[in-house]
Amino acid sequence: MTSVIIDCDPGHDDALAILLAAKHLDVLGITTVSGNESIDNVTTNALKLVEVGNLTHIPVVRGAEGPLLREAVYAPQVHGKSGMDGAEIPEPTTKLKEGHAVDFIIDTVMSTSDVVLLPMGPLTNIALALRKEPRLRDRVKLMSIMGGSSTNGNITPTAEFNIYVDAEAADIVYQSQIPMLMSGLNLTRQVLAKQEHIDEIRAINNPTTSVVADLLTFYLATSTRHSHDGAAMHDPCAVAAIIDPTLIEFEPMHVAVETAGAHTYGMTVCDDRPGSVKSKEANVEVAVKIDSDRFFKLLIDTLRMY
Ligand code: RIB
Ligand code: CA
Repeated sequence: MTSVIIDCDPGHDDALAILLAAKHLDVLGITTVSGNESIDNVTTNALKLVEVGNLTHIPVVRGAEGPLLREAVYAPQVHGKSGMDGAEIPEPTTKLKEGHAVDFIIDTVMSTSDVVLLPMGPLTNIALALRKEPRLRDRVKLMSIMGGSSTNGNITPTAEFNIYVDAEAADIVYQSQIPMLMSGLNLTRQVLAKQEHIDEIRAINNPTTSVVADLLTFYLATSTRHSHDGAAMHDPCAVAAIIDPTLIEFEPMHVAVETAGAHTYGMTVCDDRPGSVKSKEANVEVAVKIDSDRFFKLLIDTLRMY
């Protein structure tokens, strides 16, 4: 079973990603990062989620309070004031694992072979870990990230939220030479949860899926309010890429992170020109197509396991 660390900012889609990963992968830990909401809120949400999924054997470790340089940007318009609105979940009693997420990532990767990192929030923790322990570059087997886009953005016309919140951190990560799979908006917008999916999940009718159905109901409402046709399963795509790579088609591209553009800050500049004109070697496998029906079968079959 593949050993992974999930670095996240729950987040409705982060929650689904954790539940998907926990039944198929060896989740060594969940680290939290300021993103969809404050570090306090996303960390509370992660603790709530491990209790909802009876996953309290998985350590939750608190991470960066904000981006490397810029002010924190949150997404209450998508995830609500708590960062995971929509379900009545009791305050968690599970304790955090002592220490900082960055040290947990370093210690775990340096002591465990073949760890795959699953970053699905801003890349602040990952960048800090790489700066503190450069040997991670040779130890991390692979990173499957949710972030960026080979087409347009969401938080700005050109930038996806996770990259935009901390483009300097993303620049460090994209230049790390660690093998990377990138599930960007161009991919994740192909998997949109709709009411029929929510109805199917609610019909499973176990305590976990009742909460998931409530969370997705909220997330679908905010997504459609922003004129999307459904609730994009952003973060679960990065997990699905590890569970079953046959679900997704990838293309090798050089991807650069814009950190200076007045209008393009946080853009992932994906070079998909034909090989003959490319100027730089590919550093990322960019996900370009996903089998949405098979994805939802995997997700819903997994939720039946709770
Ligand atoms: O742009 C989508 C990403 O930003 C997802 O990871 C979502 O959870 C938010 O973090
Ligand atoms: Ca996220």
